[in-house]
Amino acid sequence: QAASALQEERKKPTHQDDDEYADMDWDNLGFGLTPADYMYVMKCSKDGEFTKGELSRFGNIQLSPSAGVLNYGQGVYEGTKAQRKENGKLLLFRPDQNAVRMQIGAERMLMPSPSVDQFVDAVKQIASANKRWVPPPGKGSLYIRPLLMGSGPILGLAPAPEYTFIVYASPVGNYFKEGVADLNLYVEEEYVRAAPGGAGGVKSITNYAPVLKALRRAKSRGFSDILYLDAVKKKYLEEASSCNVFVVKGRTISTPATSGTILEGITRKSVMEIASDQGYQVVEKAVHVDEVMNADEVFCTGTAVGVAPVGTITYQDKRVGYETGDESVCQKLRSVLVGLQTGTIEDTKGWITCI
Ligand code: COI
Repeated sequence: QAASALQEERKKPTHQDDDEYADMDWDNLGFGLTPADYMYVMKCSKDGEFTKGELSRFGNIQLSPSAGVLNYGQGVYEGTKAQRKENGKLLLFRPDQNAVRMQIGAERMLMPSPSVDQFVDAVKQIASANKRWVPPPGKGSLYIRPLLMGSGPILGLAPAPEYTFIVYASPVGNYFKEGVADLNLYVEEEYVRAAPGGAGGVKSITNYAPVLKALRRAKSRGFSDILYLDAVKKKYLEEASSCNVFVVKGRTISTPATSGTILEGITRKSVMEIASDQGYQVVEKAVHVDEVMNADEVFCTGTAVGVAPVGTITYQDKRVGYETGDESVCQKLRSVLVGLQTGTIEDTKGWITCI
């Protein structure tokens, strides 16, 4: 009897929360898709206004084979995360910034977009409705994926006649298979990610498939991700396939300036602000590849990636190593960001939405 009572006791969550949890192996979350129960769908009316959206069970959606998004790639997406606090509350990190970024991206792709309030409300609804999929504190987060697409049918090249905004979610852990270990990056010289005048500065779905070929090649050679160079001179750092990049030399932290080819990461700008608060000199500029190879530290930032230390970079036939570990600048900035996101550091910046 005592043994079975002990077994029952072990089944209980170890944190102060009486919510039901989904049946997941919370200790081994990666970045794979495990769809949470509900998705949110909102359609745009003919006059270009988004009307009331609704939650429904996660599942397939119907699209015409001639939907604008399928044929001409008219789509933008976002990524944001919900974290669970010990007291059971859910924390969202700057969802209004994702809303604004989606609006800017939608404008670039000639699409109508939800208002900031509509967007944030949808994200809140998805986090709350899928609460049992938000990992226990310290085990990961609920990755929330808002997606805006030209869902209406079109044959000639033109904006779609109808738009759909969908939000779905999945519990996630570390993005890279390396976990929290240092990344090994490869500087890509054959393929470019974005060119001036293109859509590299917005989160268009069309920015991602063209990256896959170079990424697979680099992964097959044992690298974690690719660093792209600018399309014109092929000498200046852009970003990685899935995240922004920072270079540290002494007390100066540089990151490629966003001039249309680099995604304006929300983690990127948050880390810049945290670094400035801590007295670092933060510089947005054209970062030459030679500067990268001579840096003290390099790290990546992104919603999915978080703040990830880079252990080595390989460029042409040279591989250089960087400082990493507990005393690194990367780790210091990361711990503040994660503290804010998970509620262990008081939010004095108004970045956290608590639900
Ligand atoms: C994110 O960080 O949220 C992204 O959208 C990157 C993606 C490649 C997972």
